[in-house]
Amino acid sequence: MEILGLIDLPGWLVGILSFVFTVCLYTWYKQSLFKRLGITSKDTVFFLGDITEMRQKGFNYIDSKMVDKYGKVFGCFIGNIPSLVISDADMIKQITVKQFSSFTDRASPIQLTERWQSAVSIASGDHWRFLRTTLSPTFTAGRMKAMCPYIHKCMTILHEIIADNVKKSPEGFDIVPFIRGYTMDVICSTGFGLEVSAQTTPDNAFIRNSKEFLDFDGLRNPLFLLQMFFPVISEIFPKLMRTNIISESAFEFYETATKRAFHERKEDHSKHNDLLQLMIKAHKGDDLDKSGIQNDVVDSGLSVEQRKTRGFTDTEILINSIIFMVAGYDTTATTICWMIYDLVTQPDIQDKLIEEIDEKIGKDVPSYENVFKLQYLDMVLQESQRFHPIVGRLNRKAIEDVEINGVKIPKGMDCTFAPLALHFMPEYWDEPNKFRPERFAPENKGNINEYAYLPFGQGPRNCIGKRLALLEVKSTIVTLLQKYKFYKTEKLVEPMPMSKTGLSRPDKPLIVKLDAR
Ligand code: HEM
Repeated sequence: MEILGLIDLPGWLVGILSFVFTVCLYTWYKQSLFKRLGITSKDTVFFLGDITEMRQKGFNYIDSKMVDKYGKVFGCFIGNIPSLVISDADMIKQITVKQFSSFTDRASPIQLTERWQSAVSIASGDHWRFLRTTLSPTFTAGRMKAMCPYIHKCMTILHEIIADNVKKSPEGFDIVPFIRGYTMDVICSTGFGLEVSAQTTPDNAFIRNSKEFLDFDGLRNPLFLLQMFFPVISEIFPKLMRTNIISESAFEFYETATKRAFHERKEDHSKHNDLLQLMIKAHKGDDLDKSGIQNDVVDSGLSVEQRKTRGFTDTEILINSIIFMVAGYDTTATTICWMIYDLVTQPDIQDKLIEEIDEKIGKDVPSYENVFKLQYLDMVLQESQRFHPIVGRLNRKAIEDVEINGVKIPKGMDCTFAPLALHFMPEYWDEPNKFRPERFAPENKGNINEYAYLPFGQGPRNCIGKRLALLEVKSTIVTLLQKYKFYKTEKLVEPMPMSKTGLSRPDKPLIVKLDAR
């Protein structure tokens, strides 16, 4: 092919060059978005964006460094997908609360298969409002009190397992797997009345299958990659680009478990007051039907009231059961583990906490009433969550063009908050690098800007399970400290690195020694 009468190139080479030229032009246009908006843009690698850096160093590390370098509002890219990273507490308040109606949805970098759009954590607009209002009553004080006996039953098993390990390995052992099994047992029994024996069965299927979710790696998924580098494709072919987050076999595993819980409950006429019961109450049919699960999907356009009349669909029951089982277990386990780490590395704080427990609860069984009265426990947990916010990044999507504090946010923009970076900003925290539970004492709480503290997010779309999580973490720490004192071992890595995944877990075994008190 002759070009401008100057050079003669083979057609295939012209094709390749034109493709490369178009990709470069597209990337250049996409990645100059923040400059066009007059917003500071992080230095980024052409086409790849920050992918390599994120993968090598993790969100937490990068975000903390970026805030230092670029300030409280700046743009960055994953591939060609832009995110506006916001670490300004006032803007976070505007987005999560004051102007929530313009930011009801979460941003997703990719199109998910239709059924996932029925998850309360992923759904948008009125669909999300309907799901959230139906599911929220799961966590009222009355229902939480009713959950306590279920938590205690799981706790008794945890204690038997721990006692056994203390006997077998008096020099110390990794406590993480036992806590993870325990929190899976708790969410399945408190939410669904299911006994799944995650603590007592090795390689438990509930834990194994949840890993697909928790360890989902978009960079290994071709559809995900395609949408990351060419986001325009998912705008043009949204249906074609729909990506699954877990394999069909893991999905079928959860589907079977949910159906089992549903059928057991339908035949059990005793009074239940949990998540499953709420969903069954909101469901109009008698059974969960396989074809229903695949077809009754996102009937977008229905108002909250219309959805209430229609009731919970099979898909909504199934998908939200999966979401609660997964969201409710690893988050809570990780929070308990970080708290244990903070207690073994700061024995004076552990001693003070034991003193409070001995004085106020003694050997009484922890209950909804008594654990929430432990003030020092609350302060230590809050400080532990400031040091180790386990959800690395939160976000909201602008559903229309908005201007906040002079920053122009275009419709569709992913507004990201980075909790770890925020939790260490000297502007919001006095001596941020010091572990000081006293900063959360009632008399000091007025000094805290609540929008610079995001372990459970903020606003109407914050963590729906926060109360259950707090009850579970606090009761577990109380019963453990009623029986044992924790010590660090030589094998404990200090400081403990945070994993680079979306959920910031301790990245090395948490090898601690327990002595009976
Ligand atoms: C200590 C444990 C937990 C932590 C640290 C945690 C943290 C979070 C965070 C940071 C968010 C995002 C909030 C936002 O965007 O503003 C979230 C959302 C959510 N969490 Fe939790 N969570 C925990 C336990 C739980 C439990 C026990 C459940 C269920 C029983 C749960 C269910 C959910 C759900 C369904 C959402 C999405 C809510 C929505 O979009 O409306 N979480 N969680």
